[in-house]
Amino acid sequence: MTGRRDPKTLRSYRWLGVDDLRAFGHRSRMRQMGFDAQDWDQKPVIAIINTWSEINPCHSHFPERVKWIRKGIEQAGGLPIELPALSLSEPFVKPTTMLYRNLLAMECEELIRSHPIDGVVLLGGCDKTTPALIMGGVSAGLPMIYVPAGPMLRGNWRGQTLGSGSDTWKYWDDRRAGVITDRDWAEIENGIARSPGHCMTMGTASTMTAFAEALGLSLPGASSIPAADANHARMASQSGRRIVEMVWEDVTPDKIMTKAAFENALMVQMAIGGSTNAIVHALAMARRANVDMTLDDIDAISRKVPVIANIRPSGKTYLMEDFYYAGGIMGVYSRLSGVLHPEPVNVGGETMGEIAARGGVYEDDVIRPLDNPVYKEGATVVLRGNLAPDGCVMKPAASEQRFLKHTGRALVFDSYPEMKKEIERDDLDVTVDDIIILRNAGPQGGPGMPEWGMLPIPKKLVKQGVRDMLRISDARMSGTSYGACILHVAPEAYIGGPLALVRTGDTISIDVSERTIHLNVSDDELASRRAEWKAPPPRYERGFGWLSAGHITQADKGCDFDFLETQFGKAVPEPDI
Ligand code: FES
Ligand code: MG
Repeated sequence: MTGRRDPKTLRSYRWLGVDDLRAFGHRSRMRQMGFDAQDWDQKPVIAIINTWSEINPCHSHFPERVKWIRKGIEQAGGLPIELPALSLSEPFVKPTTMLYRNLLAMECEELIRSHPIDGVVLLGGCDKTTPALIMGGVSAGLPMIYVPAGPMLRGNWRGQTLGSGSDTWKYWDDRRAGVITDRDWAEIENGIARSPGHCMTMGTASTMTAFAEALGLSLPGASSIPAADANHARMASQSGRRIVEMVWEDVTPDKIMTKAAFENALMVQMAIGGSTNAIVHALAMARRANVDMTLDDIDAISRKVPVIANIRPSGKTYLMEDFYYAGGIMGVYSRLSGVLHPEPVNVGGETMGEIAARGGVYEDDVIRPLDNPVYKEGATVVLRGNLAPDGCVMKPAASEQRFLKHTGRALVFDSYPEMKKEIERDDLDVTVDDIIILRNAGPQGGPGMPEWGMLPIPKKLVKQGVRDMLRISDARMSGTSYGACILHVAPEAYIGGPLALVRTGDTISIDVSERTIHLNVSDDELASRRAEWKAPPPRYERGFGWLSAGHITQADKGCDFDFLETQFGKAVPEPDI
């Protein structure tokens, strides 16, 4: 074992090793639970931060996986301590899990800081859990390794594959248009989610676990292993063994989460056609890691890396299970080996160059060669203009190409309930060339920036066969969604961003190749509308929502709480009692 630290330098030694009154208390209480000195003496204490709950289907296998992680930790001479944390179950939590991402990040950071912990296994996967755990973990600063939940198996309906989210929207529109029956719809409900694991499209979960791995925080290949595959349990044990070594070697996250590592993760995010949500989370994680990263850096990466993973919704055909069999993320690294920075080191002590050299692609249609991409540029582009001075994002590969340069008439909705009601009207004044706008759905206005950004196509047009339109909002959209949706408009309407000033009938011009978004209204007219604008009433007058509204940053800064950002103040002192 190289560079092993003196066990007296372990954090947990201050709780369990020293000879004083408080340590007596800690040891006697460990003994109360059945532990003995052999369990902790000269051993790193490893937290397993577990985001399991009985209502999170994506994490339903975590109690079983914890056994394997625990085994690995014990084999390597560590003491595992499981610490349960907020589960953030994407399908159930209202108004949106995003409202609580920062709460989990705070919880994770303080769980680590307040307990006798030397190293951490972070166990997550469902959308916001990955960034939240990493944000908290990097702020706590102890050696950490991320164990991703793994995608669920492909959905199945009468022998056809079904993709999480994407096929829900698709068949919902088919049902609204009368193309499928109620019985078909009920069968789809039985087949679309049929094993443990997170969404198996290239949604936010698959994107963020890939991002975490490419950043260096998981063992190579970990994020592509389906939850139901035995390789997943083995990866869990390997991660348990490795975190103990990381503590002895003092591999802290600041040594892994460098600017080059973030650039690698963003290149992978672009190449896999990842979720737009990754942009908000990448900015937040980078700021926690003290890495200077802006939307412009992200757009520059997008311009040079094509989408090569043919996984829905950016790709046409395949799902995460196919991706794994085709070589998975290691295959993507191998395709990008001329582009990725080779030097960043991962949790296992290997460089990206070494890892990419081990990767391979076994099915060229699933992970395309760079010269035959799914889309010629990256997954996410950043647009700016008078409607979004601080930027907004779009996923052009998942949109009808004719909308990438378009001028249309705005149809504006101030709230989701208003839009939901109007959109079903058969006499709505709307054509396929109009641009639907939903505002007051941002970080403060949503509240919590819900995934409403794939605004529904008006029923009247759905019946005519329309399946895509240009849509603009200050909301996010699910990574499993698709369509010509412009998202994350900053500043948001609720705090008076220019989106608040648009009126139905105004025209808006989009040009994705120029990266522009322009509201065709004169500056004078906008100034007079601004003078008339009144701030909406606060969403919350007490509780967590109130705290959030006072401190959440805008989408272009990552929607973290200002006081949690690394630059906010001096580092939090270690408990010294
Ligand atoms: Fe958990 Fe999609 S619902 S990842
Ligand atoms: Mg999602």
